[in-house]
Amino acid sequence: MYPNNRNRRLRKSPAIRDLVRENELTTNDLMLPIFIAEGSQIKELIPSMPGCYRLSLDLLLEELKSVSDLGIKALLLFVKVDDALKDNKGTAAIAPDGLMQRAVKTIKDAFPDLLIMTDVALDPYSSYGHDGIVEAGNILNDPTVEVLSQMALSHAQAGADFVAPSDMMDGRILKIRTVLEEAGFVNTGIMSYSAKYASGFYGPFRDALESAPGFGDKKTYQMDTANRLEAVTEVLADIEEGADIVMVKPGLAYLDIIREIRENVQVPVAAYQVSGEYAMLKAAAEKGWLDHDTVMMEQLLAFKRAGANFIATYHAKEAAELIG
Ligand code: PBG
Repeated sequence: MYPNNRNRRLRKSPAIRDLVRENELTTNDLMLPIFIAEGSQIKELIPSMPGCYRLSLDLLLEELKSVSDLGIKALLLFVKVDDALKDNKGTAAIAPDGLMQRAVKTIKDAFPDLLIMTDVALDPYSSYGHDGIVEAGNILNDPTVEVLSQMALSHAQAGADFVAPSDMMDGRILKIRTVLEEAGFVNTGIMSYSAKYASGFYGPFRDALESAPGFGDKKTYQMDTANRLEAVTEVLADIEEGADIVMVKPGLAYLDIIREIRENVQVPVAAYQVSGEYAMLKAAAEKGWLDHDTVMMEQLLAFKRAGANFIATYHAKEAAELIG
Protein backbone atom coordinates (compact mmCIF):
# COMPACT_ATOMS: atom_id res chain seq x y z
CA MET A 1 0.00 0.00 0.00
CA TYR A 2 1.15 3.55 -0.76
CA PRO A 3 3.45 5.05 0.50
CA ASN A 4 5.14 1.81 1.62
CA ASN A 5 4.89 0.64 -1.95
CA ARG A 6 5.88 3.04 -4.65
CA ASN A 7 5.97 1.16 -7.93
CA ARG A 8 8.06 3.85 -9.56
CA ARG A 9 11.09 2.78 -7.46
CA LEU A 10 11.53 -0.11 -9.87
CA ARG A 11 11.48 2.25 -12.85
CA LYS A 12 13.74 5.05 -11.73
CA SER A 13 16.87 4.21 -13.74
CA PRO A 14 17.88 2.09 -16.71
CA ALA A 15 19.87 -0.15 -14.38
CA ILE A 16 16.93 -1.07 -12.16
CA ARG A 17 14.61 -1.42 -15.15
CA ASP A 18 17.10 -3.77 -16.80
CA LEU A 19 17.40 -5.79 -13.62
CA VAL A 20 13.70 -6.44 -13.13
CA ARG A 21 12.58 -6.74 -16.76
CA GLU A 22 10.38 -9.79 -17.19
CA ASN A 23 10.80 -10.45 -20.92
CA GLU A 24 13.48 -9.82 -23.48
CA LEU A 25 13.72 -10.08 -27.23
CA THR A 26 16.93 -11.55 -28.66
CA THR A 27 17.93 -12.72 -32.12
CA ASN A 28 17.24 -16.26 -30.84
CA ASP A 29 13.55 -15.36 -30.97
CA LEU A 30 13.45 -14.40 -34.64
CA MET A 31 12.53 -16.47 -37.66
CA LEU A 32 12.68 -14.86 -41.10
CA PRO A 33 10.07 -15.72 -43.76
CA ILE A 34 11.56 -15.70 -47.28
CA PHE A 35 9.90 -15.49 -50.71
CA ILE A 36 11.76 -17.34 -53.45
CA ALA A 37 11.33 -16.77 -57.19
CA GLU A 38 12.37 -18.93 -60.16
CA GLY A 39 15.23 -17.69 -62.36
CA SER A 40 18.43 -15.79 -61.74
CA GLN A 41 19.24 -12.20 -60.81
CA ILE A 42 15.59 -11.70 -59.83
CA LYS A 43 14.80 -9.19 -57.09
CA GLU A 44 11.17 -8.12 -57.22
CA LEU A 45 9.82 -5.65 -54.71
CA ILE A 46 6.49 -6.63 -53.18
CA PRO A 47 4.63 -3.30 -53.26
CA SER A 48 2.36 -4.03 -50.29
CA MET A 49 5.36 -5.18 -48.21
CA PRO A 50 7.98 -2.39 -48.48
CA GLY A 51 11.45 -3.79 -47.81
CA CYS A 52 10.47 -7.37 -48.79
CA TYR A 53 11.44 -8.95 -52.09
CA ARG A 54 10.98 -12.11 -54.08
CA LEU A 55 14.52 -13.33 -54.69
CA SER A 56 15.93 -15.89 -57.07
CA LEU A 57 18.21 -18.46 -55.46
CA ASP A 58 21.48 -16.85 -56.56
CA LEU A 59 20.58 -13.51 -54.99
CA LEU A 60 19.07 -15.23 -51.98
CA LEU A 61 22.42 -16.79 -51.14
CA GLU A 62 24.01 -13.32 -51.03
CA GLU A 63 21.17 -12.10 -48.86
CA LEU A 64 21.51 -15.03 -46.46
CA LYS A 65 25.11 -14.13 -45.74
CA SER A 66 23.94 -10.86 -44.18
CA VAL A 67 20.97 -12.58 -42.52
CA SER A 68 23.21 -15.07 -40.80
CA ASP A 69 25.79 -12.39 -39.92
CA LEU A 70 22.99 -10.60 -38.07
CA GLY A 71 22.52 -13.66 -35.88
CA ILE A 72 19.28 -14.93 -37.42
CA LYS A 73 19.31 -18.72 -37.35
CA ALA A 74 15.95 -19.80 -38.72
CA LEU A 75 14.18 -19.35 -42.05
CA LEU A 76 10.63 -20.08 -43.16
CA LEU A 77 10.59 -20.65 -46.91
CA PHE A 78 7.83 -19.84 -49.40
CA VAL A 79 8.02 -20.14 -53.17
CA LYS A 80 6.37 -18.12 -55.91
CA VAL A 81 5.20 -20.63 -58.52
CA ASP A 82 4.75 -19.73 -62.19
CA ASP A 83 1.11 -19.77 -63.30
CA ALA A 84 1.93 -22.37 -65.96
CA LEU A 85 2.91 -24.85 -63.23
CA LYS A 86 -0.27 -24.45 -61.19
CA ASP A 87 -2.93 -27.16 -61.28
CA ASN A 88 -5.52 -28.77 -59.02
CA LYS A 89 -3.27 -31.64 -57.90
CA GLY A 90 -0.17 -30.08 -56.43
CA THR A 91 2.07 -31.54 -59.17
CA ALA A 92 4.73 -28.84 -58.79
CA ALA A 93 4.47 -29.05 -54.99
CA ILE A 94 5.76 -32.62 -54.85
CA ALA A 95 8.23 -32.50 -57.75
CA PRO A 96 11.69 -33.60 -56.53
CA ASP A 97 13.22 -30.82 -58.65
CA GLY A 98 10.57 -28.25 -57.73
CA LEU A 99 11.59 -24.76 -56.69
CA MET A 100 11.16 -25.43 -52.97
CA GLN A 101 13.10 -28.68 -53.11
CA ARG A 102 15.97 -27.00 -55.02
CA ALA A 103 15.89 -24.04 -52.65
CA VAL A 104 16.25 -26.21 -49.58
CA LYS A 105 19.21 -28.11 -51.07
CA THR A 106 20.94 -24.95 -52.24
CA ILE A 107 20.54 -23.13 -48.93
CA LYS A 108 21.54 -26.16 -46.86
CA ASP A 109 24.68 -26.67 -48.95
CA ALA A 110 25.74 -23.06 -48.50
CA PHE A 111 24.54 -22.51 -44.91
CA PRO A 112 24.37 -25.88 -43.14
CA ASP A 113 23.79 -24.22 -39.76
CA LEU A 114 20.72 -22.23 -40.78
CA LEU A 115 17.54 -23.95 -39.64
CA ILE A 116 15.21 -24.42 -42.59
CA MET A 117 11.47 -24.72 -42.27
CA THR A 118 9.35 -25.15 -45.39
CA ASP A 119 5.77 -24.10 -45.99
CA VAL A 120 3.53 -27.06 -46.72
CA ALA A 121 0.24 -26.03 -48.36
CA LEU A 122 -1.11 -26.14 -51.88
CA ASP A 123 -2.22 -22.53 -52.40
CA PRO A 124 0.93 -21.26 -54.16
CA TYR A 125 0.64 -24.25 -56.54
CA SER A 126 -3.14 -24.23 -56.95
CA SER A 127 -4.91 -23.01 -60.08
CA TYR A 128 -7.76 -22.12 -57.70
CA GLY A 129 -5.59 -20.36 -55.11
CA HIS A 130 -6.84 -22.69 -52.39
CA ASP A 131 -4.90 -24.72 -49.85
CA GLY A 132 -6.42 -27.97 -51.04
CA ILE A 133 -7.72 -29.91 -53.98
CA VAL A 134 -10.98 -28.42 -55.25
CA GLU A 135 -14.01 -30.37 -56.44
CA ALA A 136 -17.35 -28.72 -57.26
CA GLY A 137 -16.45 -25.68 -55.19
CA ASN A 138 -15.41 -27.73 -52.14
CA ILE A 139 -11.93 -28.07 -50.68
CA LEU A 140 -11.40 -31.82 -50.28
CA ASN A 141 -9.79 -32.82 -47.01
CA ASP A 142 -8.39 -36.34 -47.26
CA PRO A 143 -7.08 -36.25 -50.85
CA THR A 144 -5.34 -32.97 -49.96
CA VAL A 145 -3.75 -34.56 -46.89
CA GLU A 146 -2.31 -37.30 -49.13
CA VAL A 147 -0.60 -34.72 -51.36
CA LEU A 148 0.59 -32.67 -48.38
CA SER A 149 2.28 -35.70 -46.89
CA GLN A 150 4.12 -36.34 -50.17
CA MET A 151 5.07 -32.67 -50.31
CA ALA A 152 6.42 -32.81 -46.75
CA LEU A 153 8.38 -35.95 -47.59
CA SER A 154 9.96 -34.30 -50.63
CA HIS A 155 11.00 -31.34 -48.45
CA ALA A 156 12.52 -33.71 -45.90
CA GLN A 157 14.37 -35.51 -48.69
CA ALA A 158 15.72 -32.17 -49.88
CA GLY A 159 17.08 -31.53 -46.39
CA ALA A 160 14.46 -29.43 -44.57
CA ASP A 161 14.89 -29.43 -40.79
CA PHE A 162 11.19 -28.85 -40.18
CA VAL A 163 8.11 -28.86 -42.36
CA ALA A 164 5.45 -26.29 -41.56
CA PRO A 165 1.93 -27.22 -42.71
CA SER A 166 -0.13 -24.02 -43.07
CA ASP A 167 -3.18 -25.52 -44.78
CA MET A 168 -5.56 -26.31 -41.88
CA MET A 169 -6.80 -29.62 -43.29
CA ASP A 170 -7.86 -32.10 -40.60
CA GLY A 171 -5.48 -34.96 -39.88
CA ARG A 172 -2.56 -33.66 -41.89
CA ILE A 173 -0.11 -33.74 -38.99
CA LEU A 174 -0.74 -37.43 -38.33
CA LYS A 175 -0.40 -38.30 -42.00
CA ILE A 176 2.76 -36.26 -42.45
CA ARG A 177 4.31 -37.68 -39.27
CA THR A 178 3.48 -41.23 -40.39
CA VAL A 179 4.93 -40.77 -43.87
CA LEU A 180 8.09 -39.18 -42.49
CA GLU A 181 8.55 -41.97 -39.92
CA GLU A 182 8.02 -44.69 -42.51
CA ALA A 183 10.58 -43.10 -44.81
CA GLY A 184 13.12 -42.88 -41.98
CA PHE A 185 12.94 -39.11 -41.52
CA VAL A 186 12.48 -39.54 -37.80
CA ASN A 187 14.34 -36.33 -36.99
CA THR A 188 12.48 -34.05 -39.37
CA GLY A 189 10.31 -31.82 -37.21
CA ILE A 190 6.81 -30.51 -37.74
CA MET A 191 5.85 -26.97 -36.89
CA SER A 192 2.10 -26.92 -37.29
CA TYR A 193 0.13 -23.81 -38.06
CA SER A 194 -2.36 -25.14 -35.54
CA ALA A 195 -4.48 -22.09 -34.76
CA LYS A 196 -4.62 -20.34 -38.09
CA TYR A 197 -7.50 -17.95 -38.54
CA ALA A 198 -9.39 -16.94 -41.70
CA SER A 199 -7.88 -13.47 -41.53
CA GLY A 200 -7.86 -10.31 -43.58
CA PHE A 201 -4.26 -9.75 -42.55
CA TYR A 202 -2.89 -12.15 -45.21
CA GLY A 203 -3.58 -9.78 -48.13
CA PRO A 204 0.00 -8.65 -48.84
CA PHE A 205 1.30 -12.23 -48.63
CA ARG A 206 -1.16 -13.25 -51.33
CA ASP A 207 0.19 -10.37 -53.43
CA ALA A 208 3.69 -11.70 -52.85
CA LEU A 209 2.87 -15.18 -54.11
CA GLU A 210 -0.03 -14.22 -56.38
CA SER A 211 -1.97 -16.86 -54.47
CA ALA A 212 -5.28 -15.18 -53.61
CA PRO A 213 -8.25 -17.58 -53.74
CA GLY A 214 -9.84 -17.62 -57.19
CA PHE A 215 -13.29 -18.11 -55.69
CA GLY A 216 -14.83 -17.80 -52.25
CA ASP A 217 -12.73 -17.54 -49.12
CA LYS A 218 -10.85 -19.90 -46.77
CA LYS A 219 -13.47 -20.06 -44.03
CA THR A 220 -14.24 -23.77 -44.46
CA TYR A 221 -10.72 -24.65 -43.34
CA GLN A 222 -9.14 -21.68 -41.55
CA MET A 223 -10.59 -20.83 -38.14
CA ASP A 224 -13.43 -18.45 -37.35
CA THR A 225 -11.83 -15.28 -35.97
CA ALA A 226 -14.46 -15.20 -33.19
CA ASN A 227 -13.23 -18.42 -31.55
CA ARG A 228 -10.79 -18.99 -28.70
CA LEU A 229 -11.58 -22.41 -27.25
CA GLU A 230 -11.44 -23.96 -30.70
CA ALA A 231 -7.79 -22.93 -30.88
CA VAL A 232 -7.06 -25.17 -27.90
CA THR A 233 -8.86 -28.07 -29.59
CA GLU A 234 -6.80 -27.57 -32.76
CA VAL A 235 -3.50 -27.35 -30.90
CA LEU A 236 -4.10 -30.39 -28.69
CA ALA A 237 -5.08 -32.46 -31.74
CA ASP A 238 -1.93 -31.43 -33.59
CA ILE A 239 0.31 -32.29 -30.65
CA GLU A 240 -1.33 -35.70 -30.32
CA GLU A 241 -0.83 -36.25 -34.05
CA GLY A 242 2.88 -35.47 -33.78
CA ALA A 243 3.50 -31.73 -34.02
CA ASP A 244 6.74 -30.61 -32.33
CA ILE A 245 5.92 -26.90 -32.37
CA VAL A 246 2.51 -25.25 -32.62
CA MET A 247 1.86 -21.85 -34.11
CA VAL A 248 -0.72 -19.12 -33.74
CA LYS A 249 -1.42 -16.92 -36.75
CA PRO A 250 -1.93 -13.98 -37.25
CA GLY A 251 -0.07 -12.43 -34.34
CA LEU A 252 -0.96 -9.14 -32.74
CA ALA A 253 -4.73 -9.40 -32.96
CA TYR A 254 -4.44 -12.89 -31.45
CA LEU A 255 -2.21 -12.37 -28.41
CA ASP A 256 -5.01 -13.73 -26.24
CA ILE A 257 -4.82 -16.97 -28.21
CA ILE A 258 -1.04 -17.19 -27.74
CA ARG A 259 -1.51 -16.81 -23.99
CA GLU A 260 -4.34 -19.35 -23.97
CA ILE A 261 -2.22 -21.91 -25.82
CA ARG A 262 0.84 -21.18 -23.68
CA GLU A 263 -1.17 -22.07 -20.59
CA ASN A 264 -2.55 -25.27 -22.10
CA VAL A 265 0.49 -26.99 -23.61
CA GLN A 266 4.12 -27.74 -22.87
CA VAL A 267 5.51 -27.75 -26.42
CA PRO A 268 7.08 -24.61 -27.92
CA VAL A 269 4.57 -22.05 -29.17
CA ALA A 270 5.40 -19.90 -32.19
CA ALA A 271 3.71 -16.69 -33.29
CA TYR A 272 3.47 -15.45 -36.87
CA GLN A 273 3.40 -11.69 -37.26
CA VAL A 274 1.87 -11.79 -40.73
CA SER A 275 2.17 -9.68 -43.84
CA GLY A 276 -0.75 -7.35 -43.09
CA GLU A 277 0.68 -6.48 -39.69
CA TYR A 278 4.00 -5.65 -41.30
CA ALA A 279 2.27 -3.58 -44.00
CA MET A 280 0.28 -1.55 -41.46
CA LEU A 281 3.36 -0.44 -39.57
CA LYS A 282 5.29 0.34 -42.75
CA ALA A 283 2.41 2.47 -44.03
CA ALA A 284 1.93 4.37 -40.78
CA ALA A 285 5.67 4.95 -40.45
CA GLU A 286 5.91 6.15 -44.07
CA LYS A 287 3.31 8.77 -43.27
CA GLY A 288 5.25 9.79 -40.20
CA TRP A 289 2.40 8.77 -37.92
CA LEU A 290 4.29 6.15 -35.90
CA ASP A 291 7.93 5.76 -34.95
CA HIS A 292 8.81 2.61 -36.88
CA ASP A 293 11.54 1.10 -34.74
CA THR A 294 9.90 1.82 -31.39
CA VAL A 295 6.60 0.28 -32.45
CA MET A 296 8.29 -2.67 -34.15
CA MET A 297 10.25 -3.61 -31.03
CA GLU A 298 7.21 -3.03 -28.81
CA GLN A 299 5.14 -5.38 -30.94
CA LEU A 300 7.80 -8.08 -31.09
CA LEU A 301 8.27 -7.97 -27.33
CA ALA A 302 4.50 -8.25 -26.89
CA PHE A 303 4.66 -11.70 -28.49
CA LYS A 304 7.22 -12.78 -25.91
CA ARG A 305 5.12 -11.36 -23.08
CA ALA A 306 2.07 -13.19 -24.40
CA GLY A 307 4.04 -16.45 -24.18
CA ALA A 308 5.49 -17.12 -27.63
CA ASN A 309 8.85 -18.89 -27.74
CA PHE A 310 9.70 -17.30 -31.06
CA ILE A 311 8.25 -15.12 -33.78
CA ALA A 312 8.14 -15.52 -37.53
CA THR A 313 8.38 -11.92 -38.69
CA TYR A 314 9.26 -9.94 -41.81
CA HIS A 315 10.93 -7.49 -39.42
CA ALA A 316 13.52 -10.11 -38.39
CA LYS A 317 16.49 -8.37 -40.05
CA GLU A 318 15.52 -4.89 -38.90
CA ALA A 319 14.96 -6.14 -35.37
CA ALA A 320 18.26 -8.06 -35.33
CA GLU A 321 20.08 -4.89 -36.47
CA LEU A 322 18.58 -2.96 -33.56
CA ILE A 323 19.31 -5.71 -31.05
CA GLY A 324 22.91 -5.57 -32.33
C1 PBG B 1 -1.01 -20.17 -47.10
C2 PBG B 1 -0.31 -19.23 -46.23
C3 PBG B 1 -0.73 -17.92 -46.02
C4 PBG B 1 0.21 -17.34 -45.19
C5 PBG B 1 1.18 -18.28 -44.91
N1 PBG B 1 0.85 -19.47 -45.55
C6 PBG B 1 -1.88 -17.18 -46.59
C7 PBG B 1 -3.21 -17.78 -46.57
O1 PBG B 1 -3.53 -18.67 -45.78
O2 PBG B 1 -4.00 -17.36 -47.41
C8 PBG B 1 0.13 -15.91 -44.76
C9 PBG B 1 1.36 -15.29 -44.21
C10 PBG B 1 1.33 -13.81 -44.17
O3 PBG B 1 0.29 -13.15 -44.39
O4 PBG B 1 2.39 -13.24 -43.88
N2 PBG B 1 -0.97 -21.50 -46.84
